[in-house]
Amino acid sequence: VNSEQYQLPAGWVRLKSRREVSVQRGHPWVFSGAIQASSPGLVAGSVVRIEQNDGRCLGVGLYGTGSIAVKLLAFRDVPIDEALFGEKFGRALAVRRALGLWGSPHTTGFRLVHAEGDGLPGVIVDWYAGAAVVQLQTEGLVPFTGAIASALRQVLGDRLQDLCVVSTDAAGVEHRTMVVGDRKSGDFMENDAWYRAHWMTGQKTGFFLDQRENRLAIRSLMPTSGTMLNLFCYTGGFSIAGLKGGASRVVSVDSSEIALEQFQEHLQLNGFSANSAPAVRADCFDYLDSDTDLYDVVVCDPPAFAKHQKAVDRALRGYRRANAAALRRVKAGGLFATFSCSQAVSIDAFRSVVQAAFDDVGRRGRIIKNCSQAPCHPVAISHPEGEYLKGLCIIVD
Ligand SMILES: C[S@@+](CC[C@H](N)C(=O)[O-])C[C@H]1O[C@@H](n2cnc3c(N)ncnc32)[C@H](O)[C@@H]1O
Repeated sequence: VNSEQYQLPAGWVRLKSRREVSVQRGHPWVFSGAIQASSPGLVAGSVVRIEQNDGRCLGVGLYGTGSIAVKLLAFRDVPIDEALFGEKFGRALAVRRALGLWGSPHTTGFRLVHAEGDGLPGVIVDWYAGAAVVQLQTEGLVPFTGAIASALRQVLGDRLQDLCVVSTDAAGVEHRTMVVGDRKSGDFMENDAWYRAHWMTGQKTGFFLDQRENRLAIRSLMPTSGTMLNLFCYTGGFSIAGLKGGASRVVSVDSSEIALEQFQEHLQLNGFSANSAPAVRADCFDYLDSDTDLYDVVVCDPPAFAKHQKAVDRALRGYRRANAAALRRVKAGGLFATFSCSQAVSIDAFRSVVQAAFDDVGRRGRIIKNCSQAPCHPVAISHPEGEYLKGLCIIVD
């Protein structure tokens, strides 16, 4: 894609008086209510210069037609080009180096670029031992695919063997394209466990890298020869962690047949027998209606029930129901690990809902660990909305 024509602002938005403060503090979003005027003809994806009320430039970004009217890609007046992406990717890589991830012999899959957390709203890059999988979360970024790919090549050098770009068009249709190399999947390590990311057929970029530290926690909390129920298991990330921690039997439940097929690959890659790790294709709510077994560890990691603020109440009811049903399956003295990846559900709301689920089933518990997203999913201090994954490890009385 020739991106040159898109690099420079095609228009501008001017903020209302005193509405520049949050942008000046580094928040990368401009809400539509903060805009006083804008140049004519802006469409979703237009590159715009953001001006404070007196005309001074606050930065450049991409225009959107929702309540978030602009997402800033730079807090200064620069073209959006390979050099800008290269600068941001270089800084993101330095953070992963500092975290001990880049070059680690134990963990070769991690998030390299986390959107707002790395100064690039809408741009995700996951790294799977030589493959970079880019997820463009807004259509307006698609014209920059060439600039992003060149910048990644520049920053990653010959360590980059494959590059896949995942994007969604205006009609909501997802596109997955190999830009460099032709591998459709690749093996990587997470704390010495082997996993395979299928970036052409998986969910998101192929694997949920945000749960790395929580999988490690489950592995260390798993009682020797204990049993585990992994609800909403996807490709069995937590199941492998439980088996690595010494579980004698792990039951994994998900509604996606493809995810469960990929779970079988994870069992093989790690030398575990499918006999000790049955995979059940089912709706977890239905499964829990009929399961009567009790487990030492129950993991519940549903999809984001609330994708936006309006859906929160419904989502909370869903979390409460799932948590109550899952809790019934935990042995006395066992561990319940429960998560929400809905950005719109706050930590406090999630805790209250889990507490309500305990009340629903008449049990008590003690929180032994608060969980969050792995640190390769950083949160900009000026953008607290970037903290989306929350979880609790609870010993159930
Ligand atoms: C956040 S992902 C889980 C990630 C997983 N814990 C891991 O570590 O890779 C949520 C999963 O829930 C599954 N799912 C969504 N709705 C479901 C339902 N009603 N019953 C069962 N699985 C469901 C999706 O297929 C997806 O794999």
